[in-house]
Amino acid sequence: MRIGVVGMSYWGPNLARNFDRLPGCRLTWVCDLDEALLDRHRDAYPQARFTTRLADLLEDPDLDAVAIATPVPTHAALGLQVLEAGKHAFIEKPIALTAEDARRVADLAEQRGLVCMVDHLLVLHPGVQRVKALIDDGSLGQVYYLYGNRQNLGIVRPDENALWSLGPHDISVMLHLVGEPAVEVSATGASYLQPGVEDVVFGRVTFRSGVIGHLHLSWLDPHKMRRMTVIGAEKMVVFDDMETERKVTVYDKGPIPRTETYGEYIQVRSGDIWIPKIPAAEPLRLVCEHFTGCVAEGRTPVADARAGVAVVEVLEAMSESLAAQGRPVALAGAAA
Ligand SMILES: NC(=O)c1ccc[n+]([C@@H]2O[C@H](COP(=O)([O-])OP(=O)(O)OC[C@H]3O[C@@H](n4cnc5c(N)ncnc54)[C@H](O)[C@@H]3O)[C@@H](O)[C@H]2O)c1
Repeated sequence: MRIGVVGMSYWGPNLARNFDRLPGCRLTWVCDLDEALLDRHRDAYPQARFTTRLADLLEDPDLDAVAIATPVPTHAALGLQVLEAGKHAFIEKPIALTAEDARRVADLAEQRGLVCMVDHLLVLHPGVQRVKALIDDGSLGQVYYLYGNRQNLGIVRPDENALWSLGPHDISVMLHLVGEPAVEVSATGASYLQPGVEDVVFGRVTFRSGVIGHLHLSWLDPHKMRRMTVIGAEKMVVFDDMETERKVTVYDKGPIPRTETYGEYIQVRSGDIWIPKIPAAEPLRLVCEHFTGCVAEGRTPVADARAGVAVVEVLEAMSESLAAQGRPVALAGAAA
């Protein structure tokens, strides 16, 4: 499989490196509008051609796929061009800035029978997959609620708020874990460092069955946290991406149903704490491997364009709620 990467600033080089190292995959094009950036990478990929024009990639009949790591406002337009040219598309998160644009990309991929995957890389993280397996095999019991923490005193982006920059990760994980459409969201936040660009956002997602998800997204925080906690009726589980050896911790804790003996009191059960072994693999490598595997075998990716649409629908509705001081906003899934 031959692939080209577009956008070689901060994130694109990670995609180029991972695709280039995959067996059966060749990085044949590297593209960026900035010549100086291209020059930095020429030595690393002597077999690849370098260009400032995406058209060069699209006109190459031997190129199978294009990975897009350009700024978010360009994702949908470039994704449409790539698909129009008959190439499979790997698009950085979020897939688009509006749900309408995201749906246009998903529709075109389906019409053309092409693979279109969004880089919701946590969905393929072995730790998140372990949590998903614990939910799906009933180990946690009924899921009551879940919450994500993505905080840091970190890179402050001038053109993107904490919701759009950090939120796609946790929203994609929540939608994947719960496996139901979101029906209503709300969000509140504040802009301390730059007017109109929220540094901290607290969001809520309500799913169809009533499961609630909560998000704390911030780059103005003393804690560096990358965590998702799921509370079930039987067990509770934490995925903590800051940990190296205990990415997933399962707590055998929960309420005991009322008994005659204790009358009004609800007892709590506090049993073992269990740390399953999670394979250490670079999540981005797994994502790139998944994409090339889907292209080779004609499979639909876990994080396909429709999953990208669902994430953008939540982001868009949360933005509306943010602007309206936390007013709840219903999603289309509510009517279904
Ligand atoms: N999955 C993750 O964890 C993760 C992490 C960081 C960034 N990202 C995503 O990766 C993308 C890139 O992020 P970044 O920080 O590197 O962005 P950036 O703005 O620093 O760089 C974007 C690059 O794209 C180039 N570019 C823009 N339009 C182009 C075009 N039409 N043709 C060719 N090149 C073009 C620019 O010259 C620039 O070098 C963003 O979508 C971001 O959301 C994902």
